[in-house]
Amino acid sequence: MRMVDVIAKKRDGKELTTAEIDWFITEYTAGAVPDYQAAALVMAIYLRGMSRRETVDLTLAMAGSGDTLDLHDVAPFVIDKHSSGGVGDKTTLVVQPIVAACGVPVGKMSGRGLGSSGGTLDKMESIRGWSCNMTLPQFKRQLAEIGLVLSGQTADLAPADGKLYALRDVTATVASAPLIAASIMSKKLAAGADAMVLDVKMGSGAFMPTVESARDLAQIMVDIGTDAGRKTVAMISDMNQPLGSAIGNALEVKEAVETLQGGGPATFWAHCLDVAAYMLLLADKAGTLAEAKELARAARDDGRAFRKFRDMVAFQGGDVAQIDDLTLLPQAQFVEPIIAPRSGFIAAFNTAAIGWASVHLGAGRLVKSDQINYAVGLVLSCAVGDEVAQGQVLGMIHADDRAKLEQARAEVVTAVSWSDTRVAPLPHIYETVTA
Ligand code: URA
Repeated sequence: MRMVDVIAKKRDGKELTTAEIDWFITEYTAGAVPDYQAAALVMAIYLRGMSRRETVDLTLAMAGSGDTLDLHDVAPFVIDKHSSGGVGDKTTLVVQPIVAACGVPVGKMSGRGLGSSGGTLDKMESIRGWSCNMTLPQFKRQLAEIGLVLSGQTADLAPADGKLYALRDVTATVASAPLIAASIMSKKLAAGADAMVLDVKMGSGAFMPTVESARDLAQIMVDIGTDAGRKTVAMISDMNQPLGSAIGNALEVKEAVETLQGGGPATFWAHCLDVAAYMLLLADKAGTLAEAKELARAARDDGRAFRKFRDMVAFQGGDVAQIDDLTLLPQAQFVEPIIAPRSGFIAAFNTAAIGWASVHLGAGRLVKSDQINYAVGLVLSCAVGDEVAQGQVLGMIHADDRAKLEQARAEVVTAVSWSDTRVAPLPHIYETVTA
């Protein structure tokens, strides 16, 4: 087979065969197909789409590009969650320890920032020494000992996704349902969880702009998970505004820890409670969503969830002093307010533009080799529906560079739309999708 023929076929809108998809994934993983040809193919997929059969084939080929874990020798039932990506989405940092503290082992393979959306691993790496690199025996030992692991994409698990994910991030090919479905589900199938909750985001900061497109993505992922014998539920949640207040790596770790300690923004906590409750339901820890929420709330209120998070940080080499005293996390040199340019009601955010403002401050990557600045980002103190007076503070910018600070200020102000009449606040969940 020749890569140029595979690219041309997809460029012309034709369906790739199972053999062609398998061949591409095998050769790209082995380094025999260069990044520029892989980039051309993913752009063709982005523009032309994939049929359901092609998407399933791509997922299975990617899942099979490395090892597949069986975790049953260390845990009888393992649960996982995954978000399709959003701005300020630090849900994993809160939900994982809550669920683990309720006695359900959580073994998770997370990703890095993608486009305007941050990545869990980048966030956690703002903690000095914390590492997501581990061998399979280490993954299993930690799962057995503390019931909670947050690993990176190892060279052994779904390596094709590791390579494609980094490539898509810098070639404007992220927002494609087949590519997102294959990326997420290949990792989930390879990582050996028995059940998973998929948090599919929709809106101006998500890769899926509407509930309908998010539903299509959710349904194909739920079908792939179910066919593979994993209990899978997807929830479609809002990304028409950043989740919580903090956007940027250390700022999000701080907000997550505060939330685990009973503080944090109420809307973010409500979202975490929902995700945690669905995970506990799938694990048969509760009979109803309300009961599951009570379990999750109790694990936060009595400090078990925070202790679990702290254990995970310590196990993975992180400096727990920075968790015990959040002022020790990386701090930006300049912290300045964003001022409301007019009075009125906040009607909408261009959430992706806010995510990009944070990336431009240095919190994310524009090219694969960019180094993250963990300290920088934004902390917004307003939401859709809020009534704001001219001159009021909309949020704070944390920056290490004056020019970037001014750029971010302009980007955030432009990302806000106003109304003279009252606007309803946004829901945080629209619907759930099951098999
Ligand atoms: N999360 C992933 O793991 N992959 C994507 O493509 C998007 C979000």
